[in-house]
Amino acid sequence: MDEMDFENRIVSTEFTEADSDIENSLRPKQMQDYIGQSKVKENLEIYIQAARGRGEALDHVLLYGPPGLGKTTLAGIIANEMGVNIRITSGPAIEKQGDLAALLTNLQEGDVLFIDEIHRLNRSVEEVLYPAMEDRALDIIIGKGPSARSIRLDLPNFTLVGATTRAGQLSAPLRDRFGVIFRLELYSPQELATIVKRSAGILGIDIDDDGARQIASRSRGTPRIANRLLKRSRDFAQVKYNGVITDEAASDALSRMEIDELGLDAVDRRLLTAMIKNYNGGPVGLETIATAIGEEAVTIEDVYEPYLMQIGFLSRTPRGRCVSPPAYRHLGFEQDGQQSLL
Ligand code: ADE
Repeated sequence: MDEMDFENRIVSTEFTEADSDIENSLRPKQMQDYIGQSKVKENLEIYIQAARGRGEALDHVLLYGPPGLGKTTLAGIIANEMGVNIRITSGPAIEKQGDLAALLTNLQEGDVLFIDEIHRLNRSVEEVLYPAMEDRALDIIIGKGPSARSIRLDLPNFTLVGATTRAGQLSAPLRDRFGVIFRLELYSPQELATIVKRSAGILGIDIDDDGARQIASRSRGTPRIANRLLKRSRDFAQVKYNGVITDEAASDALSRMEIDELGLDAVDRRLLTAMIKNYNGGPVGLETIATAIGEEAVTIEDVYEPYLMQIGFLSRTPRGRCVSPPAYRHLGFEQDGQQSLL
């Protein structure tokens, strides 16, 4: 396995099959069990209560932010708290207008339709979505050529919950049709420690507070990563540390997985090192960095940069990306780009 392969990184935020069993058992079903994102939670609770009070469907909701922060989980909670069903799909999975028409006509009154990666819907499918969102109507063309005509079907009241890592890539007409738009933030180490302890409780894993903190501080602000590191740390704890994830057990496990104290893995370090060595720490353009390390620009932007910016290692400036002094120190470089001898 290529350790640089983004799909296979233990700290990848990409959802994989191996995550599905844990994520499904760990997903909180109720708002009160959802940790963090307090601003989103508070407002959402009001909107849900208000919509319920009026006996209406909740307005369409757009959730955006880096992957792995719990957008799908939140959509499930919305449906649960509204007392309706949820249908889950994704932008790339809806290939034709007919696919979306089938999904929409199968909804029941008030249901939530969750479309992950909604920025990847194609244009013709998006056009079916507009009247569906706005007028709860489905326009169907019957026949071909001069005799073709359009009929309009009524749809049930429904709530579209869209999720995207890139709100900027959504077309304006689509974005404008969401009544509620929330940006999810990376989680603090304290919030992640709480999530880790909650997950350990559900999975029957023995962990102490320091062990949870250790995993939390290396999880790049992302619950999906925290839960994955928890599972791997359990293996080390079971074989080498009497089954308890202590500070020592977690540190050992994480070091062996080449995840450093700040949660950086080999790819993060390679990214920063390339910028320091080849471009004097920047400013350097995104495309240039992408080419230098052989990753796609969008992956760097969505997956690597949010965390590096959150910890103040990287900044986006109008002239390009810049590495900050703390990143130099963390990687053992002098400010002039020379590797420190210490
Ligand atoms: N699992 C993933 N995200 C979570 C969250 N915000 N709270 C609790 N458990 C989670």
